Amino acid sequence: MSQPVLPQRVKVVEVGPRDGLQNEKQQVPTPTKIALVDQLSAAGFQNVESASFVSPKWVPQMADGSEVMAGITRSPGTVYSVLTPNMKGFEAALAAKADEVVIFAAASEAFSQRNINCSIEESIARFEPVARAAKDAGLRLRGSISCCLGCPYQGDVPIESVVNVIQRLAALGCDEIDIADTIGVGTPGRTRDVMEAAARAFPIERLSGHFHDTYGQATANIYAALQSGISIFHSSVAGLGGCPYAKGATGNVATEDVLYLLHGLGITTGIDLDAVVRTGDFISKAIGRTNASRVGRALLAKMQDADDATCV
Ligand code: HMG
Ligand code: MG
Repeated sequence: MSQPVLPQRVKVVEVGPRDGLQNEKQQVPTPTKIALVDQLSAAGFQNVESASFVSPKWVPQMADGSEVMAGITRSPGTVYSVLTPNMKGFEAALAAKADEVVIFAAASEAFSQRNINCSIEESIARFEPVARAAKDAGLRLRGSISCCLGCPYQGDVPIESVVNVIQRLAALGCDEIDIADTIGVGTPGRTRDVMEAAARAFPIERLSGHFHDTYGQATANIYAALQSGISIFHSSVAGLGGCPYAKGATGNVATEDVLYLLHGLGITTGIDLDAVVRTGDFISKAIGRTNASRVGRALLAKMQDADDATCV
């Protein structure tokens, strides 16, 4: 039996500074956020999701997006993305000189209401002017779709609902579309089915997989998505995160775990895994959280042993 051919190169989009931190109860100091973004761009990420221009009443942790964007040191090789649910968010993103804006919809009506306070249909209408303005300003436009593999309120989500939202976002001119497993319930078989249906609706090289790791399936899901031909994945350093509107959902899949998987398969990412491991240690300590990356913890222990050996 012939084996599926895996992509030779994968783009890993680091979403820790946004998806990873948005759910932290204690306000993370702005300089810590800036240091995090800078360490990530220095590690070689082509794309860092750095801030969110949403209502501060809804997500107080992201209220300092403009300060974060003003404080970072721009790396010429990095695209800095921000979330923009409406024109107010877009204006702030434009002023902050974001490279890419992200409009975010859901494949589930119930989640759309809880997350952005409107129906899927209303959200698309709200995104239209944002999409137009992004194109006029020459910014990249990304569309994100929550709950493609399950919804915390509705349960199962039909694949047709995912495809329907893909078509709506494609019509708005999205350069890239994210298939998100918001609550980490997906399994590899379902992931393959969803990705293959998505790829019939939108060019596969511009589709990404955004997996949360609540049920520990995320790296298996990424492997299934790779076999389906997906070559863009999102992850959070140290597995930071959770979703304020998806109770019980844990963080994104850890970047360190994804890089270990990809590099082990001989896939190029252009990212320095050791540098990401150090960044994972930095941010976990800075916010007083246990590092959720198993690869991160294992490699840190090895680095520590090597440091101890050089001290004797
Ligand atoms: P709303 O209350 O329906 O909106 O919220 P509104 O237009 O009536 O505005 C209410 C107030 O918010 C007003 O202020 C606005 O000015 C202000 P007030 O007059 O009461 O003082 N406001 C804003 N302020 C700053 N920036 C803005 C903005 N917009 C309005 N852009 C809204 C609708 C969409 C704004 C709200 O529901 C919201 O901000 N939701 C964001 C939810 C969110 O950030 N969720 C997490 C990100 S999505 C995610 O994590 C999923 C993803 O990772 C993929 C996956 O895993 O599924 C991407
Ligand atoms: Mg997410």
